[in-house]
Amino acid sequence: MAIIREERPQDHRAVYEVNRRAFETAAEAEIVEAVRRVAMPPVSLVAVEGDRVVGHILLSPVTIRNEEKKATAMGLGPMSVLPEFQKQGIGAQLVRAALEACRKMQHNVVFVLGHTHYYPRFGFEPAAPRGLHYKNELLDTHFMVAELEPGALDGVAGVVEYLPEFD
Ligand SMILES: CC(C)(COP(=O)(O)OP(=O)(O)OC[C@H]1O[C@@H](n2cnc3c(N)ncnc32)[C@H](O)[C@@H]1OP(=O)(O)O)[C@@H](O)C(=O)NCCC(=O)NCCS
Repeated sequence: MAIIREERPQDHRAVYEVNRRAFETAAEAEIVEAVRRVAMPPVSLVAVEGDRVVGHILLSPVTIRNEEKKATAMGLGPMSVLPEFQKQGIGAQLVRAALEACRKMQHNVVFVLGHTHYYPRFGFEPAAPRGLHYKNELLDTHFMVAELEPGALDGVAGVVEYLPEFD
């Protein structure tokens, strides 16, 4: 089991490396840096094995917009585990800890754009049937939402927008 803890300033370089190596390009690593600049403090957790950062998860605020109103929630991503540490449950530890952090902050709605095979085990379900859409509807099939408190999504519908840094 890895230790999951909040990211510290001295972890930033290691977090960049974990994202760069887990993904095929540095795009996600750059997004993490950009989000940190505008949305301190987002939820940013690291997984540590020994004294090495081997995984990372970021959550940042999202806006749910419709004609009448807008609401805020959290968006999970990116998350990453170093290739040689994948498939050992570290990703699952990171997701569970991140959802717990959201609950503590009273953020009871969390979105993720990701693998439909992976996230349902943590309570995520397709967002579109609930009237919640990713801004590019072609990606709706991979867009999911978790309601951390029953009823948190009642009366909430619209298009979900991540911070511009994700573009
Ligand atoms: C996704 C990721 C963070 C999971 O971390 P992990 O520590 O390997 O996760 P776990 O050990 O908890 O779970 C492994 C599960 O993830 C699934 N998984 C990992 N990558 C996947 C992919 N690209 N497509 C579908 N499923 C994937 C595995 O099939 C496995 O599922 P299983 O438990 O049913 O066998 C890690 O694989 C990673 O860094 N991938 C590259 C970056 C990425 O795609 N991030 C997610 C999008 S933001």
